[in-house]
Amino acid sequence: MNVITLSQPGGLDKLTIINRPDPGEPGPGELRVRIHASSLNFHDYAVVAGAIPTEDGRIPMADGAGVVEAVGANVSEFRVGDHVVSTFFPNWEDGPAPIDNFSTTPGDGIDGYARERVVGPAHGFTHAPDGFSHAEAATLTTAGLTAWRALVVNGGLKAGDTVLTLGTGGVSIFALQFAKMMGATVISTSSSDEKLERLTALGADHTINYKTTPAWGQKVRELTGGQGADHVIEVGGPGTLPESIDAVRIGGHISLIGVLTGREGQVPTARLMAKQARLQGLIVGSRAQQKEMIRAIEANRLHPVIDRSFALKDIADAFRYEESGKHFGKICLAF
Ligand SMILES: NC(=O)c1ccc[n+]([C@@H]2O[C@H](COP(=O)([O-])OP(=O)(O)OC[C@H]3O[C@@H](n4cnc5c(N)ncnc54)[C@H](OP(=O)(O)O)[C@@H]3O)[C@@H](O)[C@H]2O)c1
Repeated sequence: MNVITLSQPGGLDKLTIINRPDPGEPGPGELRVRIHASSLNFHDYAVVAGAIPTEDGRIPMADGAGVVEAVGANVSEFRVGDHVVSTFFPNWEDGPAPIDNFSTTPGDGIDGYARERVVGPAHGFTHAPDGFSHAEAATLTTAGLTAWRALVVNGGLKAGDTVLTLGTGGVSIFALQFAKMMGATVISTSSSDEKLERLTALGADHTINYKTTPAWGQKVRELTGGQGADHVIEVGGPGTLPESIDAVRIGGHISLIGVLTGREGQVPTARLMAKQARLQGLIVGSRAQQKEMIRAIEANRLHPVIDRSFALKDIADAFRYEESGKHFGKICLAF
């Protein structure tokens, strides 16, 4: 089978396609899955670019989707031929988050899904949504579930709430789609006027160019009659958090998700306190939450927004495309 490996110290030129023997039969509690797709996340980029150190020879990519080829003993949830999608935390099945790191995350702490076949625990997968391509299913593991957990699980999103999304990456576009699906009003930002038009076409009620309107927090308050947004999908980190605090309504909810502008910085703590807002850090979600999200996706016939798909061997080009920031929604590998 074809496998992508990353040699240290990382970098897009350190990604190599090699041939390895197929994995054998699955043991008790395991599946063998023919992986057909993965999707790119900023976290995968940080690993392959060498910003997050990993093991020499690591197989990258957290997201994997494909078809069950063989089922081990004691597995009742899956059959040969089922379409499945991987989970970000293979050992977090349900309940509160038991882990605060990436030591068990495929493509970081353990080998990921940039390969054609894998044998692994059945609880590291769920069924894929009916009618989804493998590439569409692969977008759910990281970006989809993060947006779902932020809004629905932690945020308790209700119809009529206002949601603010930042930029047009994978997480933010899913947040826009889920928010509209749940009957919310959505305000979305982007650095590009052309992307703002695409956000409107996807259902955003208001759009703001965060480059030409640097005080976008105030603009969000104006657009909401002075109230502010009930939920903020905060993917920027220190460079955007002050504006997000300005944008959130009193008693609102900010999901602290991303680090696009850096890992540390100044937080206007007094303003956050005065806003009496809930600032919730999160990393993706549990298997049970993934199953709930997929149920909602199927009931609403929602489909992810895929910008482009690349072949497995072109993984470095796929990451160069992500690096360019030209994408809108998800970039996938399909193989
Ligand atoms: N905590 C978690 O569980 C979790 C899960 C997934 C992702 N994340 C994090 O969330 C962030 C987004 O991930 P992703 O995979 O969705 O990334 P992505 O697809 O690569 O998104 C990149 C997009 O973000 C926007 N952006 C960049 N700088 C921005 C800024 N200063 N203000 C507003 N938008 C900005 C840009 O949109 P425009 O081109 O429209 O300006 C850019 O195209 C990353 O930091 C990632 O590590 C965290």
